[in-house]
Amino acid sequence: MAEKSFADALNEQISNEFAASQQYVGIAVYYDAETLPRLAHFFYRQALEEREHAMMMVQYLLDVDERVHIPDIKSQETSFADGVAPVKMALEQEKRVGEEIFALFELAREEKDYRAEQFMQWFVKEQVEEVALMQDLLNVVERAKENLLLAEDYIARENPGEEGSDPTAPPLAGGGA
Ligand SMILES: [Fe+2]
Ligand SMILES: [Fe+2]
Repeated sequence: MAEKSFADALNEQISNEFAASQQYVGIAVYYDAETLPRLAHFFYRQALEEREHAMMMVQYLLDVDERVHIPDIKSQETSFADGVAPVKMALEQEKRVGEEIFALFELAREEKDYRAEQFMQWFVKEQVEEVALMQDLLNVVERAKENLLLAEDYIARENPGEEGSDPTAPPLAGGGA
């Protein structure tokens, strides 16, 4: 038997997703203060996506009749050495979340919890996309670090991460997107 139940581990992940959401607000605020509105918008939107991930997990726990724990919010970084550092941090964060998602997937398998395994599948796909998205943005800001307006142009032109609705996405607690 695993030491931690899937429900406990998913509750921890809810905390991680809310923390990621708050950290992305922190990054967005940094770029907004630097008058880099496209980078700011990109991270405000990512913050909403992380919140949605948390709310999907909340809905799942409600659906399977497990206790839901809503975590405290700790304060997040809003000052950075330069315009590249926040994206580096975001990429590290997405990679770490990927590992956390794999661990949850494994736990679901270990417990032979088929509905949990099925629920986690969407997040496996999502993390592939998010790591790739952040890696692309890092490549761009590193190339444009002397003049981040070039990164602003890139975001305006390419709309990275701007996606339509995904019919395979798990439902959110409280409804919404
Ligand atoms: Fe997430
Ligand atoms: Fe993410």
